[in-house]
Amino acid sequence: MIIASNFKTNHTRASTKAFIASVNAYIAKEDIETQTIVFPTATGLDSFDGLLEIGTQNAYPITSGSCTGEIGLEQLDEFGIKTILIGHSERRTLLGESDLLLKAKFDFFKAHNFKIVFCIGEPLEIREQGLDATLAYLKNQLEGIDLAYEKLIIAYEPIWAIGTGVSATNEQIASTHEALKAMGVYTLLYGGSVKASNIEEILSIASVDGALIGTASWESDAFCEILNLSKRIEK
Ligand code: PGA
Repeated sequence: MIIASNFKTNHTRASTKAFIASVNAYIAKEDIETQTIVFPTATGLDSFDGLLEIGTQNAYPITSGSCTGEIGLEQLDEFGIKTILIGHSERRTLLGESDLLLKAKFDFFKAHNFKIVFCIGEPLEIREQGLDATLAYLKNQLEGIDLAYEKLIIAYEPIWAIGTGVSATNEQIASTHEALKAMGVYTLLYGGSVKASNIEEILSIASVDGALIGTASWESDAFCEILNLSKRIEK
């Protein structure tokens, strides 16, 4: 079971530090065995003690060099970071990241042995065309991604469910996840309006290996409650 928190553009360096300290203390106190990952902003990255795993929300596929505004491998190595989020829909849509760039990022960070959480997800107009159209869209996003890479985690995040408060239905999650697993996806998270009130039923779906959470994970108490609820599901 994997529970990941995506901070997006929230928290300062100081509040990230406080969040991580309090979640680490909770994990130790409550014996949480769930693999827990936090993706802070780039300015919040640092070396932290504790069981929480820290990942980066983004990096350019370069060790160091001339790429204004980006960070590369050298900046991640400084803090021992070996986990990266690639392909989040906000980066695809707001920043125009192409499938080609995402594949280059995947190949680069795979070559450097990173754990990669690779996000895919369809817009509403595709979902409205039904499951087949949705699966064709998702399959296209996975084109060229080595699904056999052992440190790959796919996160299925329907765009229409992100930050809206309305998650996909259990039936939509189950049918989509089953089809993705049949395509060769091994570890598969669901993301899109996951919160304390729906996490247990979502994690209970057989083809769900965990969750990637935005909004409901930004307060440490709320995130700890989610970790506590996830403890009840055997995976
Ligand atoms: P949300 O975001 O939980 O706020 O819907 C999820 C995500 O974008 O990863």
